[in-house]
Amino acid sequence: MMLLMTCVVAILLSDFSIAKDWCYFGCENSLPHWGKHYPKCNGRKQSPINIDTQKVIKNQELASFELIHFSLPHTMKMLKNNGHTVECELKAGAVGVRGGGLKHKYTVLQFHFHWGGKDLMHHPGSEHSLNGHRSPLEMHIVSRRSDLNDSTAAKVQDGFAVMGFFIEGDKKEKEKEKTTSKVWESFTDYLQKIPRKGDKVRIMEPFSMHQLLKGVDLSKYYRYNGSLTTPPCDEAVVWTIFKDPIRIGRDLLLRFPTKISFDNVFRPQHPLNNRVVYSSAALTAGHAGTAEHVLQPPTIQGP
Ligand SMILES: *[C@@H]1O[C@H](CO)[C@@H](O)[C@H](O)[C@H]1NC(C)=O
Ligand SMILES: *[C@@H]1O[C@H](CO)[C@@H](O)[C@H](O)[C@H]1NC(C)=O
Repeated sequence: MMLLMTCVVAILLSDFSIAKDWCYFGCENSLPHWGKHYPKCNGRKQSPINIDTQKVIKNQELASFELIHFSLPHTMKMLKNNGHTVECELKAGAVGVRGGGLKHKYTVLQFHFHWGGKDLMHHPGSEHSLNGHRSPLEMHIVSRRSDLNDSTAAKVQDGFAVMGFFIEGDKKEKEKEKTTSKVWESFTDYLQKIPRKGDKVRIMEPFSMHQLLKGVDLSKYYRYNGSLTTPPCDEAVVWTIFKDPIRIGRDLLLRFPTKISFDNVFRPQHPLNNRVVYSSAALTAGHAGTAEHVLQPPTIQGP
């Protein structure tokens, strides 16, 4: 009996430790195997997806966001290399978001990045794409419903709201005139201090969220229901993908796959299945489907 118990405990423990340990490639629980240990990764509302702008449906309720304290300096706390990405932790409860068609207020927790190979221009690493076009990098600002905690948020479709931004590279000369570049230069300077898993560095500069998002029209976006793009892949995310990319110098883009000891950290795309992608009120037809689509509300299929 004792022996049996020990075996059961050992199996449970080993299963748990394997399940905790995942990677994109080069380990046992790599991308094609995520679903074995994290069954939700095999779901039908997974992220990322490609957005086909001819098929999106305009939704007048998708107005501008109210971004709370996005202009406030010193809201970023720590930049961490967690072995899958670099993640910037924000000061607890400092920054929030509501509006933009969201039914609740959300608290911003962190933002992180997905990137491709060392030759980023030829091996892009954005997770989402627009009409099949992928960008070198994608940034995700992750927020959680202010009335929930991590475990309760994971159980509802709108537990988390993630804002996704494409990041494109500009030639250096063009970039010099823009102030965005200076902030991104200082921000990406931190990358060389955290090359390996477990490394972290405190952010001392007075950066604000808005400084990183310069040049993006925050009223032009796409909206769909999806999942976390890393295990456990909970289908608990209201996704907002902004149409305009953030533009930074190419040399700054390249710091991600070269200063950090890993690259190609993105999940492949998943089928839309019977989901709908909406476009915000500020996106004009042509960017957002045909007039026919604009006039007719979607028929949502029942379960
Ligand atoms: C999250 O909230 C639920 C319900 O309020 C509570 O039962 C649970 O203990 C909380 N979990 C954590 C990790 O705080
Ligand atoms: C997401 O799912 C919820 C609940 O099923 C639904 O009310 C909402 O309209 C969906 N949103 C989108 C953008 O499809």
